[in-house]
Order: sequence, then C-alpha cells, then structure tokens
Amino acid sequence: MAQKDKTKWDKKYQETPSLLEIREPSKKLIEILDKVKGKKALDVASGAGRNSIFLATKGFDVEAIDISQVALDELDKKGFKNISTKLVDLDEYEIPKNSYDLIVMTNFLDRNLISKLSKALKTSGILFIETYMEDKDNEKPPSNPNFLLKKDELKSFFNEEFEIIEYDEFFNESYELYRMKKQSILIRKTF
Ligand SMILES: C[S@@+](CC[C@H](N)C(=O)[O-])C[C@H]1O[C@@H](n2cnc3c(N)ncnc32)[C@H](O)[C@@H]1O
Repeated sequence: MAQKDKTKWDKKYQETPSLLEIREPSKKLIEILDKVKGKKALDVASGAGRNSIFLATKGFDVEAIDISQVALDELDKKGFKNISTKLVDLDEYEIPKNSYDLIVMTNFLDRNLISKLSKALKTSGILFIETYMEDKDNEKPPSNPNFLLKKDELKSFFNEEFEIIEYDEFFNESYELYRMKKQSILIRKTF
C-alpha cells in the first residue's frame, strides 16, 4: 500500500468533511447509463462514492475501490446492500479481467491503469472516464502537472478494438470547488 497516498487522502477527507457528504454524481454518467447492458459495475477511486450511490439506486451491483478507509467507511455507513467497498492501492491491485459491464473512473488519473480497466471489461462492456485536463482558464494549478490530461489525450489509449461512443471536453459543474476544464470518454469493448 502506498502509505503516503493513503495518509494524504485520509487526512484530506477528515479535514474537508463536505467531500464525505452525498454529492451529485457525474452529469455525463447519468446521461450514458442507457448504453450499458448488464448490472455489474466497478467505481475506480470511488472516494465516498457519489457515482457508486447513483449506480446502486439504478440497480447496479457496485464494487467501490479506493485507497482511503475514511472515504470507504463513510460509504459503508450509508448501508447500500448492492455496494461493496474494498481498500486497495491502484498502483498494485490486480483488477479481475473480463468482469464488469460498466467501469467508471472520475476525477482521478493514472495513465497506466487505463489498459487494465479495458481488460477488466466484459465483452460489450462500457468504460467511462472523466477527469481534469490542461487549460489556460483553469482556476487551480494541479499539485503535479502530470495529473492533467492533454488535449485529446483520452482517445489515444484505445485502438480499433474499442468503439469510442462519445468524447468531450468541457468546463466542470458549478458545484465543484474550482472551475476546471475536463475531458470525458465513453468506450465500448467490442471483443
Ligand atoms: C478526487 S477523488 C475522486 C473521487 C470520486 N471518483 C469522485 O469523482 O468524486 C480521488 C480519489 O482517488 C483516491 N486515490 C488516490 N490514490 C489512489 C490509489 N493509489 N489507489 C486507490 N485510490 C486512490 C483517493 O483516495 C480519492 O478518493
């Protein structure tokens, strides 16, 4: 376990309790749900589970994985029977292959993880990624510039075996703390 990351994120959740409250799910996730065929979902770096909770209310069986026990405890407290939480370090965790109808990763970027997420999809499974990208009008510089996507970057991770259903670049929702440009992609695994 990357103890440094775990300590950092646990502290952040403890110091900013609003991050543990039930928050709006990704607006785009709401819009794309009709594209998903089965009900087994993985929420990657779920935090306190705003997207997991939304998916659970739509009948999905959700695995929420994150490095912060503080965030996962908060999600467990909500008592959703169809959400299971797991404390993992995504730098090391072996994500089960061919296992999920839907994988969601929002507001988190680990470029090395994207090929593993593709492998974790079932055939016809859907992967949705939405996170921050470079832009001159961003209000908050990242702690590490590597955490920001370059223009069009998400598309570069997928070959012709994946159908790109939707791609977008847009400014984030007003309820987020800082105005930031985001990038999102919705892909289907065709094999
Ligand atoms: C900005 S939050 C995003 C939470 C949620 N996906 C959302 O959109 O609200 C980033 C999350 O990544 C988690 N995280 C950071 N490094 C991680 C790692 N190595 N393994 C697993 N989770 C990690 C943090 O604990 C935190 O909950």
